[in-house]
Amino acid sequence: MTQDEMKQKVAEAALKYVKADTIVGVGTGSTANMFIDALAGMKNDIIGTVASSEATAERLQGHGIPVLELNEALSQVDSLSVYIDGADEFDSGKNLTKGGGGALTREKIVAAASDAFICIVDESKKVDHLGAFPLPVEVIPMAGALVANVARDLGGKPVLREGFMTDNGNIIIDVHGLTITDARGLEDHLNSIPGVVTNGIFSHQGADVVLMGTPDGVETIE
Ligand code: 5RP
Repeated sequence: MTQDEMKQKVAEAALKYVKADTIVGVGTGSTANMFIDALAGMKNDIIGTVASSEATAERLQGHGIPVLELNEALSQVDSLSVYIDGADEFDSGKNLTKGGGGALTREKIVAAASDAFICIVDESKKVDHLGAFPLPVEVIPMAGALVANVARDLGGKPVLREGFMTDNGNIIIDVHGLTITDARGLEDHLNSIPGVVTNGIFSHQGADVVLMGTPDGVETIE
């Protein structure tokens, strides 16, 4: 089975977590795109969706799936019923790194507004320690050099994502070479640097369930 076939299987498996008459948070990336395509078959069952990026909103709307702003959604319901998204890495504690597509901040916001986070990945995303995938940090542009210096002090190699601007008008610094043994501590530490909007460690907003695609089928990790 190819990596795309495994992604397709988990995207379809995630449909069982979509409850009728609720608002669903939707992630960003190639696996989330497959979920969006599958969700189109249920578009009349749900109130609507909240998108974690402009690209996701566009794809949802292309299928005729209603997209609400988060503030609008939370004026109608207390919380989104579920957030469904991919990840760049996950560990045994269901901590994640995300942001390969640069949508980490809105992804974290929508995840925080949801009752449960269902993470959909293929088996290549499973790691012993987060950090092999360069850790994205969204930064207000004037703080770029400051954040890069802190990343170097932590033993990482900061690299500006060239030619990229987030949906929020900020830059991304990808920090290479970190071995993350304390995901929550590093998430908090990086977020405490002035100018950091957020970083791609999802420990506070870790997954509740990981659906992992393998050549033998979909494994559910709870
Ligand atoms: C985007 C993300 C994605 O979830 C992550 O990059 C995984 O993407 P894909 O499903 O394409 O492998 O965090 O910001």
